[in-house]
Amino acid sequence: MSTNDLFTVTEAERERAAQHARSAAAEAGRIPGIDAQAPLRPIHRVAVIGAGTMGGGIAMSLANIGIPVTLIDATQQGLERGLQRVRDNYEGSVSRGKLDAAERDRRMALITGSLQMADVRDADLIVEAVFEDMGLKQDIFRQLDRLAKPGAILATNTSGLDVDQIAAVTTRPQDVVGAHFFSPAHVMKLLEVVRAEATATDVIATLMDLGRRMGKVAVLSRIYPGFIGNALFRNYTREAHFLVEDGALPHEVDAALKKFGYAMGIFAVHDMAGNDVGYQTRKAQMATRPADRRWNDLILKLCDQGRLGQKSGKGWYRYEKGDRTPRRDPELEAFIAEESARMGIQRRPMSEDEIIKRCLYGMINEGAKLLEQGIALRPGDIDTVYLTGYGFPAHHGGPMFLADRIGLANVLADIRRFHAQDGYWWEPAPLLEKLVAEGRRFGDL
Ligand SMILES: NC(=O)c1ccc[n+]([C@@H]2O[C@H](COP(=O)([O-])OP(=O)(O)OC[C@H]3O[C@@H](n4cnc5c(N)ncnc54)[C@H](O)[C@@H]3O)[C@@H](O)[C@H]2O)c1
Repeated sequence: MSTNDLFTVTEAERERAAQHARSAAAEAGRIPGIDAQAPLRPIHRVAVIGAGTMGGGIAMSLANIGIPVTLIDATQQGLERGLQRVRDNYEGSVSRGKLDAAERDRRMALITGSLQMADVRDADLIVEAVFEDMGLKQDIFRQLDRLAKPGAILATNTSGLDVDQIAAVTTRPQDVVGAHFFSPAHVMKLLEVVRAEATATDVIATLMDLGRRMGKVAVLSRIYPGFIGNALFRNYTREAHFLVEDGALPHEVDAALKKFGYAMGIFAVHDMAGNDVGYQTRKAQMATRPADRRWNDLILKLCDQGRLGQKSGKGWYRYEKGDRTPRRDPELEAFIAEESARMGIQRRPMSEDEIIKRCLYGMINEGAKLLEQGIALRPGDIDTVYLTGYGFPAHHGGPMFLADRIGLANVLADIRRFHAQDGYWWEPAPLLEKLVAEGRRFGDL
């Protein structure tokens, strides 16, 4: 089948995808082993630690439903900057006619700044959103263990650190949970609730319920590097970068992804977010990572050349002053060709079909691995994460729904082909092989 046939959906399929998205989002709130009628922990007051990008947005999400929040930062400057950003965001809503001035004042009045960690003492829920650093987070949780009232829920907004290691420094691991909000936190609908080894069921139920009350869709994940969303996303970006090393140009990858239905291609997204996101972490990991597989380091080299993206006027594309339109950059394209040669890669043209399949099927394969390990409870949960948090085109219904529509045997055949061609990263998920052997679909699980 040509790409056009495979990735074009009919009106009826579009409707089925929308129905699936609705039922999957509703289903995500049902957790096996947790009685929907069981009492929740009351949440009357919340403390958020770290008044940065995430902390401010989380405080807004809570104030928006009438919950008073104490926003705590380590420095006066950090706190003032955070509160100002919250004020500016509300102001923006007022000027767009989305919020009236009285409501803005009421919400602002619910958010109190503080520089004292001891001000967590009255909070029923504490959400930590300081820098992504295990030592720092453990230090905060040691303090919370001393200062928080008994029964308070201690949540971390980590993007991927091991929540068990954070819980382990407290004497109350049953109260510790991950609450992974997405940026901007007052806008994005997704909340990944991360269940650590000892997390109590009423803590999970309370956070899932709070997510709903904040107008979000909460999805439960077990601990796994990057949880559900970023675990799949790693596969998506890795293949996009390998495609560029193998012969595609950034604009070709982006064009194929847009044709598939994404609002933006991945390289335009990188340039918008900043290519230096995660730079330090990735540099630090280089020395100890396994040498038996291929890694995509081109993005680090772009940073070293000052190609940080829109903010520096060049990245995977070039940008004219005051204009965010990505334009092809011959200098960058020449550099990519040099890098391919340096890696001993004979560049070859990449079809749209290969681009879309490599970017998506790695996610589907990873999704199957998450399901067999119980990291994600159901295929629909993975789809919900992708539809609400990662801009996955709604008409495809999420990566796992898409896989069922294409046919798991077809998807597996391509994954096996990529495995033979590229090795390690394409090791087929045993669950996928099992489903194909049994003639079943993800939807049958
Ligand atoms: N930015 C994102 O897109 C995003 C998305 C999801 C999750 N996260 C996670 O959220 C967390 C926060 O990220 P961010 O982007 O908001 O960071 P940020 O750098 O914008 O803000 C961190 C804030 O924490 C404060 N801080 C540092 N040490 C502190 C301490 N000891 N006590 C109190 N405050 C302290 C800093 O002053 C700063 O204001 C990280 O764990 C990050 O991985 C970020």
